Amino acid sequence: MTTAPAARTALTHVISSEQFDRARLDDLFVRAAELDGARNQRCAGQIMATLFYEPSTRTRLSFESAMLRLGGTVLGTEAAHAFSSAIKGETLEDTIRMVSTYADVIVLRHDQLGAASRAAAVAAVPVINAGDGPGEHPTQALLDLFTIQRELGRIDGVHVAFCGDLRYGRTARSLALLLALYPGVCCSFVAPDVVQVGADILSRLDDRGVPHREVSSLADVIDDADVVYQTRVQKERFGDPAEFDLARTAIRIDADVMRALPQRAIVMHPLPRVDEIAPEVDADPRAAYFRQAANGVAIRMAVLDSVLS
Ligand code: NCD
Repeated sequence: MTTAPAARTALTHVISSEQFDRARLDDLFVRAAELDGARNQRCAGQIMATLFYEPSTRTRLSFESAMLRLGGTVLGTEAAHAFSSAIKGETLEDTIRMVSTYADVIVLRHDQLGAASRAAAVAAVPVINAGDGPGEHPTQALLDLFTIQRELGRIDGVHVAFCGDLRYGRTARSLALLLALYPGVCCSFVAPDVVQVGADILSRLDDRGVPHREVSSLADVIDDADVVYQTRVQKERFGDPAEFDLARTAIRIDADVMRALPQRAIVMHPLPRVDEIAPEVDADPRAAYFRQAANGVAIRMAVLDSVLS
């Protein structure tokens, strides 16, 4: 991969995968590889605020670890619905205006679609979307793409089979948008109808000429898959329990699936998993999900370095 000089301009807000082009992605991946395992002072004197209105383990802690490794400091609140002034009725906009005066960058996770854009519209500092309800999760998509590059040695031409909850799963949505920037990529969406991928994502893929298939059985596409990207059924987003029950019939990855999966392929998952990947799969070298999660620190170092430089 080459580093395009034009991409060395700072990122501002990180709201959607649609903001990225190939030059920017190449630049971020070069930076992430350079920063992986490093500890330096590139963000010394800078403060990152994490505002999380939804639970998180990996995203919040990997952002915090990234900032600390860059010599910066962190402050924030988890369970922000309960532990911030939101419980007193303060709007997200007012909270963001205030936090903008306390920190140099804000990492926001919220349960509402569009919350990150609303925050960016009033923030005096960069806002990074760490998940806005069923919308997007662009930094997860960056680390997922970085993982595909590291594991398979290429992104061009890969066939990714997305499985699970593709309706509410924001990580699959954001990753599909990034994959569309690479030639020869093809996407399969494997899910029961009730949680099939949204028409908005399919139309973006069509705009870019990315071939895609929507199927209900992994067996239909597994022979040709390079990546099986499994996701959790997003129980918290279902208004109707009957729909959740239908969605639970989504695909489970177990030893039988691994026997059918090509040797060259990998299994990814943004985590947390519930029961959609059997624990017996973990020992298989093609199970890439823990390596994938570990890549989150390097990618978030690269994102923070770009936003704050
Ligand atoms: C995901 C999320 O929050 O969207 N987790 C993550 O950030 N790694 C996936 C999920 O919650 O199922």
